Amino acid sequence: MPKSAVDFPQLVIVDLGSQYSHVIVRTLREMGYRSALLSPSKAEKLLSQYRPKGIIWSGGAACVSDPGAPVPPKNYLGEIPVLGICLGMQYLATWLGGKLSKEINRKEYGPREAKIIARTSPLFKNIPDGPVLCSHGDSVQKVPPKFHITAVTDDCPILAMEAADGRPIYGVQFHPEVTVTTHGKLLLENFVKVICGCKKDWQPANLIASIREEILETLPKNAKVLHGFSGGVDSTVIAALLSPVLGNRLIGLTIDGCQFRAGELDHIEAAAKSAGLKNHRTVKVCEELITALGLTTDAEAKRRTFKSVYSHTIERVGEETGATYFLQGTLATDLIEAGQLGGASLIKSHHNVGLPLNLTQLHPLRQLFKHEVRDLARALKLPPSVSERMPFPGPGLLVRIFGVPVTQERLELLRRADAIAERILKDNGALAGLSQLVVALCGAPTVGVKGDEREYGHPVVVRAVKTVDFMTAETIELPPTVRRALTEALTQIPKITRVFFDETPKPPATIEME
Ligand code: XMP
Repeated sequence: MPKSAVDFPQLVIVDLGSQYSHVIVRTLREMGYRSALLSPSKAEKLLSQYRPKGIIWSGGAACVSDPGAPVPPKNYLGEIPVLGICLGMQYLATWLGGKLSKEINRKEYGPREAKIIARTSPLFKNIPDGPVLCSHGDSVQKVPPKFHITAVTDDCPILAMEAADGRPIYGVQFHPEVTVTTHGKLLLENFVKVICGCKKDWQPANLIASIREEILETLPKNAKVLHGFSGGVDSTVIAALLSPVLGNRLIGLTIDGCQFRAGELDHIEAAAKSAGLKNHRTVKVCEELITALGLTTDAEAKRRTFKSVYSHTIERVGEETGATYFLQGTLATDLIEAGQLGGASLIKSHHNVGLPLNLTQLHPLRQLFKHEVRDLARALKLPPSVSERMPFPGPGLLVRIFGVPVTQERLELLRRADAIAERILKDNGALAGLSQLVVALCGAPTVGVKGDEREYGHPVVVRAVKTVDFMTAETIELPPTVRRALTEALTQIPKITRVFFDETPKPPATIEME
């Protein structure tokens, strides 16, 4: 049986590879239901020992007939309620005697207007017609025997279906978990409450005791633990959670590769103090890192180099201190993007996932999303400078200089621009409500004229986003006065000739430029 309390879900989400799979879990947990995202094989193992109240098969990019496509376990069909989303619904149709149509070059992607035609369906209880996000190549052409159609669009005659003989089996050919689907949250709530009969049982603050227990059970007596400490909400929460139980055995390690923003090291010291971290050291590796980066401009190569210098430094400090374990604030989303959770594919490698280390690695926050860690930070009484802190990528400013190699001089230029931009936003009250501010230095030079002089310098990109889980994000249009103030102040920095404002949402862009 699973050991940790976070591993006993009322709802199991079988990840068939959709980038939105984690959003299903996040939405269900926000509603208050313990849920877990599992790969098909992990789900199969769990389901052989344990019966959740409901199961959701996520969507995914594969087709049912693709060799190697992720396949959900199915031996509980008809007994435990199942909701198949997109690819999940296509499996239901294929296995239960329906038929798929394969129309090459006719992928549906984007919002469509759903018409609910089965008003008595418990899944669509109180749900009016409205927009839904479709994203599929194949579609169901014929529902299985003893099924009926519950929703349609003008282009899609079988948008949703369910068993008509009382078996709790439901399929939707759209994503209820994304915000484009206006009534998607209500649909998920209908599945969870009305169909599965779940009761609310999830509150992140209740995890404090179970995370402490899990770490104490895992660590041999007297073992020393290094902890990658950046002063961000994730690593500070770990420090605050574990300092009281590990004391001096917990050694916070900050690796300064010149990737930090202005004033960051002071903040890190303050965060270590607020978390009660008794043992904390900062190791400087700027030269080693910048030499190792050399002329590379490739984002993934930079991340790999950062990861490698980061790993060597951890091992070196491990030897010096006698620590044999390494703790990290890795979240579910890091694992998903790095292709390590469920069936999702690699979006980008994260510096804290899969480090080649000779220390044993522990990820106590591996099941959680950012907003849940913020809840924990508040429950642990950490100051708002920690609990509400904007995320900052591990490789920091290194991945915010794009198109040219990273140099100390360019890092300095960007650090200055970043600090000025943040101050202007703060002074204008535009920082509140932002989830992340990205200020990046573009490598392609542009011409400017300052005074009577021509200047050939860098454009700076300013990007403000709002998001809950950092996997999708909407951009914030800064007010014209703020934009003007930013343009004026930033172009006063020598070597900065232009300011661009990037308002591309994620997707199709990512939050960072690289
Ligand atoms: P993207 O750019 O993938 O960013 O939309 C999503 C969130 O992840 C952060 N991020 C990183 N964090 N190492 C990290 O620790 C990285 O290499 C990295 N790249 C992006 C990003 O700042 C945002 O909050």
